[in-house]
Amino acid sequence: MQYQNVVNLIKCCKNKIVQRGDLSIKGKGAFDVATNVDLEIQRYIQNELEKLYPDIDFIGEEEATHTISRCYWLLDPIDGTTNFVHDVKISVISLALVENGKPIFGVIYNPYTDDVYYAISGLGAYKNDQRIHVSNEDIGQSLITFGTAPYNRQFGDETFDIVKSIFKDVFEVRRLGAAAYDLALVASGTFAGYFELVVAPWDIMAGILLVEEAGGKVYLEDNFMSNGVMKSKIVATNKKIHQYMVDHVTHQNEPK
Ligand code: IPD
Ligand code: CA
Ligand code: CA
Repeated sequence: MQYQNVVNLIKCCKNKIVQRGDLSIKGKGAFDVATNVDLEIQRYIQNELEKLYPDIDFIGEEEATHTISRCYWLLDPIDGTTNFVHDVKISVISLALVENGKPIFGVIYNPYTDDVYYAISGLGAYKNDQRIHVSNEDIGQSLITFGTAPYNRQFGDETFDIVKSIFKDVFEVRRLGAAAYDLALVASGTFAGYFELVVAPWDIMAGILLVEEAGGKVYLEDNFMSNGVMKSKIVATNKKIHQYMVDHVTHQNEPK
């Protein structure tokens, strides 16, 4: 597999995001939208991947149905669509190659900085071809990022209770608005940990491989990928603060 070809075709989508013109925005669900650019990027990458690798299936977030097979590409064409719509300039493209339910290659591309984060199973994680590693920070030094599970507002109170409980122990917290990028920044040592109470496979598949190949640890609920739309809680850390984060996110820290 020529992973560089795949990275190159993702980088071709830079201007679709960076030079965003007038957007047409379509509602998908509560607080959930897709723009014409999400769809354009997905169509472009799907077409190009089908030309390069006709035998590998494809699943993209913006498709109506998601049928899981043994080996498939899994694409989030814009992770951070709300940021994109509001021109926050924190949005990435995330693509994983999944085999038997596990990512074997993952790439996360930030079109605003041109940074490419990628990982190959067993061969490490890289940012722009330089090896990356998770941080070695302890809880008190940690910058923690989290997601609000925005399309599942019933998890709002629980999310902010967790943030409140960890805020007293960590250095600081952040909410960037792009789960894949959160994971890339855990892998490269910017953040010591990330959690979110509901994420979808395309948000996190590439990022999981990045974090693990960079020496970190990922907690998911059981059967996360038993079908394409299943959703899970996620905790991803630099390993050192893993137990602390998992205990707080799963409420093991609370008195019984
Ligand atoms: C969302 C972003 C957000 C996270 C949500 C994701 P989208 O992805 O990653 O940060 O909190 O859980 O669904 O909708 O922008 O691709
Ligand atoms: Ca996403
Ligand atoms: Ca998306």
